[in-house]
Amino acid sequence: MAPTAYVQPLVQSTSVFKADLFKGKVLFCTGGGSGICKGMTESMMRHGAHATIVGRNLERLQQSAKELFEKTGQQCLPAQADVRNPASLKEAVAKTIEKFGRIDFVICGAAGNFLAPISGISENAFKTVMEIDTIGSYNTVKATIDHVRAAKGAYILVSATLHYSGTPYQVHVSAAKAGVDALSAVLAVEEGPHGVRSNVISPGPIAGTEGMDRLSPKGSDGKSGLGIPAGRLGHVEDVGNATVFLFSNAASFITGQVLPVDGGSEHLRTQFLPYPQAVLDPSSVAHLIKGKL
Ligand SMILES: NC(=O)c1ccc[n+]([C@@H]2O[C@H](COP(=O)([O-])OP(=O)(O)OC[C@H]3O[C@@H](n4cnc5c(N)ncnc54)[C@H](OP(=O)(O)O)[C@@H]3O)[C@@H](O)[C@H]2O)c1
Repeated sequence: MAPTAYVQPLVQSTSVFKADLFKGKVLFCTGGGSGICKGMTESMMRHGAHATIVGRNLERLQQSAKELFEKTGQQCLPAQADVRNPASLKEAVAKTIEKFGRIDFVICGAAGNFLAPISGISENAFKTVMEIDTIGSYNTVKATIDHVRAAKGAYILVSATLHYSGTPYQVHVSAAKAGVDALSAVLAVEEGPHGVRSNVISPGPIAGTEGMDRLSPKGSDGKSGLGIPAGRLGHVEDVGNATVFLFSNAASFITGQVLPVDGGSEHLRTQFLPYPQAVLDPSSVAHLIKGKL
């Protein structure tokens, strides 16, 4: 019989960390209405934090806030804002302070993604991703820093691993996430003496998310652990677990770091599209891709 790879089990942070770890603390999370950042918010709320989730689609935010409250019993405020618009973010911060009185933790997670070659992406589309991912993260830091300083709190910026090598059709996100990583390093150094920490979480392939759905080839079952040392795709709870650890006092000596949560796949750097065929003849892979080329 052929040997089979070990598959790392998925555990919930509540089986490792105290349930009241973040009692009385408040999280402000951009992108928290869906996907990975909603999962990160849920993990924090399971340990007693209240949260504000920020996005553009108010209806989805309201639905998510209701779900998060029902699952965790903690309060969740849906706040509509576009991270490209500093005034709307400041308003979301003001609503958070009015409701909860403080902000201890911030997740900068709002982002946009799609597949497009350098030769095909419009200048405007490139700029939009930079504006949401990089400038949006900066705007979020700027809008929250006074409160996070007052609370001696911490930031997590959500990045990716695709810019560690040249990932075809991801020039916009690669440039934007490299900027996010740099932003966190400077934030850690400038704000460290004020008691604030900042780290980056870089998710690898996380099953069942909009990002994976847009980028993974058609026909893949979304469950394959092929090319992943941990033996499986990631789950939003894996990212939630890393979030709970990094925001906890157990990570008080960890700042300015980038933590890939990818089951070790960054070290294999498996291309998700066949190379170089995908680059030489985009039409040869168009049928594999759910997003637009
Ligand atoms: N999925 C993966 O496998 C993967 C891998 C690596 C990194 N990541 C990173 O993980 C994070 C979450 O990704 P996801 O796949 O879970 O995607 P997602 O569900 O599409 O999450 C993106 C969120 O950002 C919000 N958003 C987008 N533009 C915004 C804007 N201008 N202002 C405010 N909010 C905005 C969206 O809400 P609205 O549409 O309501 O604004 C949405 O809730 C992203 O930073 C992504 O780059 C994901």
